[in-house]
Amino acid sequence: MTALSSDTFPPGFLWGTSIGAHQSEGNNLASDWWALETAADSPIAQPSGDAVDGYHRWNEDLELAAGAGMHDFRFGIEWSRIEPADGRLSVANVQHYRRIVQRADELGLRPLPTLHHFTLPMWFSRSGGWRRPDAIDRFLRYVDAVAPVLECGVERIETINEPNIVAVLAAGATDLSAGLPVPDRQISAVMLELHDATRQHLKRNHPSVLTGWGVSVQDYQPDPDAQSLVADYVHPRDEVFLQASRGDDWVGVQAYTRGRIKNSDGHAQVYLTPGATLTQTGWESYPDALGGAVRRAARVVGDVPIIVTENGIATADDDERIRFTTQALQALRAAMDDGVDVRGYLHWSLLDNYEWGRWEPTFGLVAVDRATFARHPKPSLAWLGALAPTPG
Ligand code: BGC
Repeated sequence: MTALSSDTFPPGFLWGTSIGAHQSEGNNLASDWWALETAADSPIAQPSGDAVDGYHRWNEDLELAAGAGMHDFRFGIEWSRIEPADGRLSVANVQHYRRIVQRADELGLRPLPTLHHFTLPMWFSRSGGWRRPDAIDRFLRYVDAVAPVLECGVERIETINEPNIVAVLAAGATDLSAGLPVPDRQISAVMLELHDATRQHLKRNHPSVLTGWGVSVQDYQPDPDAQSLVADYVHPRDEVFLQASRGDDWVGVQAYTRGRIKNSDGHAQVYLTPGATLTQTGWESYPDALGGAVRRAARVVGDVPIIVTENGIATADDDERIRFTTQALQALRAAMDDGVDVRGYLHWSLLDNYEWGRWEPTFGLVAVDRATFARHPKPSLAWLGALAPTPG
């Protein structure tokens, strides 16, 4: 495989990083995750607290990304900041996200906001969350509230981050290392309906915004005697969500590892390769998964272009991050050479940030001192930025 350069991917290919609101902003006080983390009997090992103070330091983060040569910046808009109490909108927080979009634009970064990334306003969650009969309507009201953000330079929007994981978490899953449990059926159905309603709503009100969502896609690799079991295994876990992308302008693929599947008495069971090198999250370090994930996604979504909206590795060793990402990008390029229509790559993550209950896994291109919040770029930031293709 040839070495990577800024010519590896075509002009106009999206190139940048991803972060999420709750994981970076800090003090997300009105959210259900905050309530869960701070409850007296919390099952969450470590709370997010100030996170990495992204709520105040967003400009520094944008400048770091732009300064490294990135062209695209995926970040989260937090519903619980826009509507901290039922029906009470925060105009100041709408303006906050609007400033991020405007500044990104000034710096030559295309902002790609995500509307929902796991967290919900506490008032909404406490009253049934996605199981509320008016859940979709209430989400669309939030989408209306952020119109001023979308109207000042947003080209693309991700409606929901990993709807399949939202439904998996709703099924009560905590340890995902032994493969994904079957997603909660009701929540899966709500996610599908929510996405469809949101994209139609956006198309009506913001016709130029390109809509998509980011599906968690693993590279499933069945043993020879498990081939016939894969279709049923994969369908509820990601395929049904990829199928629903057929009406979108693009689909986000978020890929980290592979899932090897064995035949266990006629049932598909995910297993770890014996002796595999594991990352800090306990996943097999398997960079080629990105190639497998986009190839399978492409077979499902047909001619909808793919954007890799997340890919990366939790490691304390930045050289390992560069090695892993090199191989992942080579696998991505090989899939494109075989005809897979990929239009961009957004690395998870710009920053070492809050990893849902834990601080130890570090996915960032930039380290953050958690006492001072000072940002310390790792060599991988400049390395990845230097591979940015020519802007389109
Ligand atoms: C999520 C991120 C998370 C990352 C690494 C994705 O599932 O969207 O929030 O930090 O994976 O675990």
